[in-house]
Amino acid sequence: MELGINIDHIATLRQLRLGTEPEPAFAALVAQSAGADSIVAHLREDRRHINERDIEILKEVVRVKFNLEMSIAKDIVEIACCLKPDQATLVPEKRKELTTEGGLDVIGNLNTLKTVKNRLEKQGIALSLFIDPDKKQIGAAKILGVKMIELHTGRYADAKTAQDQKKYFRELVSAVTCAKNKGLRVFAGHGLNYYNVSRVAKIKGIEELNIGYSIICRAALVGLERAVKEMKALIS
Ligand code: PXP
Repeated sequence: MELGINIDHIATLRQLRLGTEPEPAFAALVAQSAGADSIVAHLREDRRHINERDIEILKEVVRVKFNLEMSIAKDIVEIACCLKPDQATLVPEKRKELTTEGGLDVIGNLNTLKTVKNRLEKQGIALSLFIDPDKKQIGAAKILGVKMIELHTGRYADAKTAQDQKKYFRELVSAVTCAKNKGLRVFAGHGLNYYNVSRVAKIKGIEELNIGYSIICRAALVGLERAVKEMKALIS
């Protein structure tokens, strides 16, 4: 199982002070040297965390796969075509959402997606669609002609009861089976953390998990002791 690390929230921390640290590219290199198989960054239309400078530096320094998460807005597609990341993952985007709330509506956006797909693939960018574990959407992704999809694990990850978690886990497993039967490569992510990831990691057919928030949160805690000791040494 491959692990993609989403570093958006390193940039979120920087934007809290509109300063220069922490540097997302630094985080990407640390993640890469710790074994990350890919680095993921989402250039949002409102630039709330990652910005153009970040993705340009990431493109230059990341040696593993660089996966740019993006909406299908014209100016963002333009930026992606110039940047040429290894992969683009198309996601829906709402200005007011705290994080990507659901998967892309492939059925409802088939024509726009065809245009975006052609433009990105012309630049040699591999294309993945972030979609809900829904057989109709998976079918539409196949009709569109993409080779890979990322299944949204949010419903499973955010389930409030064991019963719901079981239900959404089954939904995920059957979506993976459906996609594999159609010959699609399958990735998954969203809301995965140190408590809920193991079951998903065992699903046969998923090649890659993309995880951001929980890893950055854990880094803040497990790194705090060293950070305090370093500051104490400096001022003593
Ligand atoms: N995959 C996609 C397509 C996403 O949009 C996100 C969130 O940015 C993730 C994975 C990672 O989700 P989380 O930050 O909850 O781990």
